[in-house]
Amino acid sequence: MRGKFLSFEGGDGAGKSTQIALLSEALKRSGITRVVTREPGGTPLAEDIRQWVLHETVAINATTEALLIFAARAQHTAEVIEPALEAGKWVLCDRYTDASYAYQGGGRGVPFEVIESLEAIATGGLKPDLTFFLELSVEEGVRRTGGRNSVQDRFEAQENEFKKRVRSAYQRIAAKDPHRVETLDGGKSKEDLCAEIRALVHLRLGVAID
Ligand code: TYD
Repeated sequence: MRGKFLSFEGGDGAGKSTQIALLSEALKRSGITRVVTREPGGTPLAEDIRQWVLHETVAINATTEALLIFAARAQHTAEVIEPALEAGKWVLCDRYTDASYAYQGGGRGVPFEVIESLEAIATGGLKPDLTFFLELSVEEGVRRTGGRNSVQDRFEAQENEFKKRVRSAYQRIAAKDPHRVETLDGGKSKEDLCAEIRALVHLRLGVAID
């Protein structure tokens, strides 16, 4: 049986990494084989592209940025995600295509149709079975990431207006696709969020997790 594909989205500092680690442990306890991965990245080539996209110091044109991210996604999808799902493994991905609609579309203003075309080319239309959107106010996200690392990446360094556009774009995606996207309150404790996520996996995918 094909594995399940779960993605985690949200503004920076929303707690995705923590929840991915907790769900991964819970899946392990339940005997489910899973692959934990991230975007941009997840393969050696895609991780190289991640370095450019997050840390390049010269300006990157918005279309170029989108093309680089989708190049990384094409490689990651073909090399890691599809083979894992085919093999019956679950894939927990820290961000996927929704992030491109939010950051490159909402944040940078790349037209929706351009992102849609790139998605078709890079992923063949592959969508996660379930996406968790961890929502947090921009101010709280900035407060959390500010303390986490002194060197900000190219997105963390953006002004709050950019981050608000990203958040609105995520909210629109969640409203448009309620059967796939679950919005969670990123301000809750990590234990409460983890319990909520496990319950939703049961409800949405019919798989009970310890
Ligand atoms: P993030 O997932 O927040 O990783 P970390 O927790 O290590 O900071 O960082 C990835 C950044 O890349 C994030 O700021 C959003 C950005 N990004 C895009 O702009 N578009 C995309 O399609 C993806 C996947 C990420």
